[in-house]
Amino acid sequence: MFRSVLLLSALALPTALFTLNPVLAAQDEAPCTSLVVMYCNSCHSSKRICKGLKVKDASSWKKTITTMAEYGDIDQATQQQVLECLSNKKADDPAICPQ
Ligand code: HEC
Repeated sequence: MFRSVLLLSALALPTALFTLNPVLAAQDEAPCTSLVVMYCNSCHSSKRICKGLKVKDASSWKKTITTMAEYGDIDQATQQQVLECLSNKKADDPAICPQ
């Protein structure tokens, strides 16, 4: 009994992590990528955004996104989503930056 529980958890844990991981990653990556494609790349490439990722913190992103929203008429909820996802990205994040 003990052995089979041990065996089961030894098998189940990596499997669970393995299946969960891409799902969690996709939840994080995909919205940011598609938001940028939809709302930012209409005017310029992500190169500008990548440069920003190297230097900007959340408050600096907020200023930039507010300016971009004035240029491009981006609604408040979308600004908030873009702000949240870009503030959490690291420099050269492959979801945003061309490799
Ligand atoms: C309507 C056109 C337009 C849209 C939409 C747009 N931008 Fe821009 N963006 C510009 C222009 C023009 C500049 C250069 C002038 C400037 O810096 O204000 C710029 C510059 C930038 C810069 C460099 C300047 C800085 O403040 O750091 C960043 C970063 C940036 N945009 C990010 C974004 C992001 C993120 C989005 C999507 C939420 C976005 N842009 C959407 C037109 C746009």
